[in-house]
Amino acid sequence: MLKANKHYLELKNSYLFHGIKLRVNAYLEEHPGVELLRLGIGDVTRPLCPAAVEALVRAARDQGDPARFHGYMPECGDENLRAAIARHYEKFGVKIDPEEAFVSSGASDELGDILSLFDPASPALVMEPAYPAYVDASVIVGRRVITLPGTRENGFLPLPEKGLEADLIYLCSPNNPTGAVYDRAGLAAWVDYARARGSVILFDAAYEAFIRDESPHSIFQIPGARECAIEICSLSKTAGFTGTRLGYTVIPKELERDGVNFNRAWVRDRTTRTNGVSYILQQGGLAVFSPEGQRQLEDNLSVYRDNARDLRRALEKAGLWTCGGQNAPYVWAACPVGIDSWSFFDLLLREKQIVATPGAGFGACGEGYMRFSSFASPEVVEEAARRLERL
Ligand code: MLT
Repeated sequence: MLKANKHYLELKNSYLFHGIKLRVNAYLEEHPGVELLRLGIGDVTRPLCPAAVEALVRAARDQGDPARFHGYMPECGDENLRAAIARHYEKFGVKIDPEEAFVSSGASDELGDILSLFDPASPALVMEPAYPAYVDASVIVGRRVITLPGTRENGFLPLPEKGLEADLIYLCSPNNPTGAVYDRAGLAAWVDYARARGSVILFDAAYEAFIRDESPHSIFQIPGARECAIEICSLSKTAGFTGTRLGYTVIPKELERDGVNFNRAWVRDRTTRTNGVSYILQQGGLAVFSPEGQRQLEDNLSVYRDNARDLRRALEKAGLWTCGGQNAPYVWAACPVGIDSWSFFDLLLREKQIVATPGAGFGACGEGYMRFSSFASPEVVEEAARRLERL
């Protein structure tokens, strides 16, 4: 008889955001007609920028025109889009070859898929609190997960500790869920650790567009990172592509472990397991990287930045400790004293009709905290801020 992958049985009953959806739906069944203020999952609400919309429509028309029709796309991405991604990195002073940029259907898909490059016997390090898919994707393939605590004392930015034995290192900056951002010295400590041990960093840069200060946008701004890091990024939060889907992954050509060159291995993987991202979406992505698209994106980003500022202020007015929300779209707040994060979630839902994300859903170190997303409309945020101030 076929044997199943029993590691699925080791997963928590339901994925964090799915579990929240079920709780919220149960509340709405009991209270029909209630309008909730949704600051839970980090799903964008602003529409795509006009340049992207035009490109998507044009590309859809191309597919109906025999003279401009496109069949299979190159599996690793359209060469113009790969070149545009490489040019995007130049803004951070980072030089990458277009063949090091792989177009993907989004960061969350890629964070799971990329694990095929590594032996499941190599443990993964997750800095908690963390985006729950890091842990789940490792559990599914039977990889051991080591955790390192993020705390108020270390600013939710843990650094390598003596005796730490991590082969695969998940790093997310700006961080989901805490909104904390590593500076150069912090990232350099991880790069030094990874090089010394022969580990590989999986750098999740999904929120890089929210950085306003000198903090690095890319791990490749750190000397030596090309020998020890893969960067995964997405247009979901930057350009509102959560429902459209497009991302990119950078794998330096010199990155090798154990006789395997990861760039070549990923070409082999993609050409075998995918037929590439659709022509239409890649045209939309290309428009996002155009100068016009980049200008237009700023309008949406500034709405979310203002939302984050207002949420943070309201939570602080209510007397809660906060972090994030300055270079990140998430505000991380301590729960009122004596209330755990799921109880605070219920209180916000039932008393204030606000949906947020309980910190405990991001791992044990998230207990006692709540994450507020700034991706709602300014009207929703304004009303939520008014209610939160009076907590
Ligand atoms: C979140 O709320 O953490 C994100 O929206 C989840 C994701 O990007 O998949």
